[in-house]
Amino acid sequence: MNAVELDSVTLRYDDVVAVSDVSFSVEVGRMVALIGPNGAGKTSLLKMLAGLLKPTSGRIWVLGREPWRARGLVAYTPQREEVYWDYPLTVRELVAMGTVRRRGLLRWLDARDGRVEAALRLVMLEDLSSRRISELSGGQQQRAFLARAICQGGEVYLLDEPIAGLDAPSEAVILEILKKLRDQGKTILMATHDISATLEIFDYVALVRNGLVAFGPPSDVLTSENLTKTYGGAAVALHLDDIERVAGWR
Ligand SMILES: Nc1ncnc2c1ncn2[C@@H]1O[C@H](COP(=O)(O)OP(=O)(O)O)[C@@H](O)[C@H]1O
Ligand SMILES: [Mg+2]
Repeated sequence: MNAVELDSVTLRYDDVVAVSDVSFSVEVGRMVALIGPNGAGKTSLLKMLAGLLKPTSGRIWVLGREPWRARGLVAYTPQREEVYWDYPLTVRELVAMGTVRRRGLLRWLDARDGRVEAALRLVMLEDLSSRRISELSGGQQQRAFLARAICQGGEVYLLDEPIAGLDAPSEAVILEILKKLRDQGKTILMATHDISATLEIFDYVALVRNGLVAFGPPSDVLTSENLTKTYGGAAVALHLDDIERVAGWR
């Protein structure tokens, strides 16, 4: 079965075409990197898949359902810039919010919930669970959001730039957690700018620049021609150097 399927999806905000006629599908249990420059429509795509925005035209299915009907099966983590980090919430409280849908609002802070503890352990934040999220490093904050997503018990993870701005060790920790989720049969779509980080572990890359430039296994898709279409000329040499160094395919 397909975890997600997009058929000629277009999204307009007034006169801006954020997503233009995008079609692709992803089988259950795959990891997909959505790669493209700022303004390419990555966030818009993830929000439509999460059922938070409706396409202007085209169709989307998530696990065979319309996105708003699949919300209980989807975990979405927003891009850093969309989070109000000063909110006085502890790590455990943030993670426990992931259980609201299943347990009901009144019980969401129940400290005995084993799922909260299990998620904190998986992202290695059990020792920091009483800290406020504003006091964490960027990598720890992203892990806290990942733990909240894990608590939602989703089958499909939609992650908006979870490794942006992280140092290499923090990035590696997040990618390890994502691999574990994939090994459990979860499907992951992750927006990122960091091509080299995704080469070795992602099943597919979707190159986006409002339209879909290319979709397929990283080694097929990450050609200089496709990267030029996605990023324009200047950035490409740099990316190709990265690809060479990390994957050694060229
Ligand atoms: N709420 C909005 N209103 C108007 N335009 C928007 C809105 N959100 C995004 N856009 C525009 O849509 C395009 C795609 O944005 P976005 O999906 O955020 O791309 P990305 O996540 O790849 O940076 C950009 O041109 C952006 O300026
Ligand atoms: Mg974005």
